[in-house]
Amino acid sequence: MEQKQYKRTTVTAALPYANGGVHIGHLAGVYVPADIFARYLRLKKEDVVFIGGSDEHGVPITIRARKEGVTPQDVVDRFHSMIKKSFEDFGISFDIYSRTTSPTHHDMASNFFKKLYDDGKLLEKETEQYYDEEAHQFLADRYITGECPHCHNEGAYGDQCEKCGRDLSPTELLHPRSTISGSQPVMKKTKNWYLPLDKYQDWLKEWILEGHKEWRPNVYGQCKSWLDLDLQPRAMTRDLDWGIPVPVKEAEGKVLYVWFDAPIGYISNTKELLPNSWEKWWKDPETRLVHFIGKDNIVFHCIVFPVMLKAHGG
Ligand code: MF3
Ligand code: ZN
Repeated sequence: MEQKQYKRTTVTAALPYANGGVHIGHLAGVYVPADIFARYLRLKKEDVVFIGGSDEHGVPITIRARKEGVTPQDVVDRFHSMIKKSFEDFGISFDIYSRTTSPTHHDMASNFFKKLYDDGKLLEKETEQYYDEEAHQFLADRYITGECPHCHNEGAYGDQCEKCGRDLSPTELLHPRSTISGSQPVMKKTKNWYLPLDKYQDWLKEWILEGHKEWRPNVYGQCKSWLDLDLQPRAMTRDLDWGIPVPVKEAEGKVLYVWFDAPIGYISNTKELLPNSWEKWWKDPETRLVHFIGKDNIVFHCIVFPVMLKAHGG
C-alpha cells in the first residue's frame, strides 16, 4: 500500500451475480481476503466500512429465468437470499449486504446516468443489432446461436464458441438463430449511449501508471497493456427488458448495462447503510478505497468505473 495516511477505508467485495450460489473459489479468491482485511482494520481501531451485495441485472439472469419459466425477479430473489445466507453462515463480516434491485440503487444508478447524459459526457451511437421479429426484441449476443465459422460447431453462441473457445461476434455466426423463438434474426438499427474511454486515456495513464504503482503487479500490468493500446468507446446501455431503465425519453425499452450499474452498487449500498454520512466514504480525499475482485473484473474496476466517476465529477 502507499505511504499516504488515510482517515478511513472503504472496503468492497465484488457483488456476486444472483444467478447461482457462491462456491469455495469465490470465498477463497475474494470474500475471505476482504473479510480478513476489514477485520484487521477494525482490530487496529481504524474507521472502515465493508460493503457487499448481489449483482442482480444482466443477460445470464434473464436466460436462466426463461429456461425455468419464471421471471428474472424470481431468480434474483431466490439467489440473493441464498447467497446472503451463505455469507452469514460463513461469517463474512459485511457491514451491509444489499442488492442492485433496491430502490436506493435504482435511484442512484439512474441519476448517475442522467447526469452523464445531461452533461454531454456520453456518445450517442447508432449500430445494427440482430432483432427477433417474432419475439419483438433485440437479441443479446448470448441469445443468438449458429454455426462457428472456425470449427463449424453448430451450437456456437453470438459471443463465443464453446467448442473451439474462440471469441465471436454475432455477425460472424453462419445460419444464426434466435434462441428465444428459433426464427432467423434480422439486422435492425438501434441507438445506444457510449462512454468514450478514449477521451480519458491520458488521464488514466497518469492516474494509474504514475499514481497507483502500489496496485497488485498483475492488475497494474493488465492496465498498462490496455493503456498501451487504444481504448474504445464502450456501450453503457443495452436493448434488454431486465435492468434499470435508461432515464432518457428516446430510450424506451433500453436498460443500463449491468457493468454500468453494478459498481454504483458499492456506493448505493453504502448510502443504504449510512443514509446521512455515506458521502464521506466516497467523496473525501482522506478516504482510501480498496476493492477485492476476481481477475475477470479488472477492466471494470480499474478502467471503466474510474472513468465513470471521473466523468461524473461528484
Ligand atoms: N457480478 C460480477 C461478477 O461476478 C462482479 C460485479 S462487481 C461490481 O463477475 F461491483 F462491480 F458489481
Ligand atoms: Zn468454434
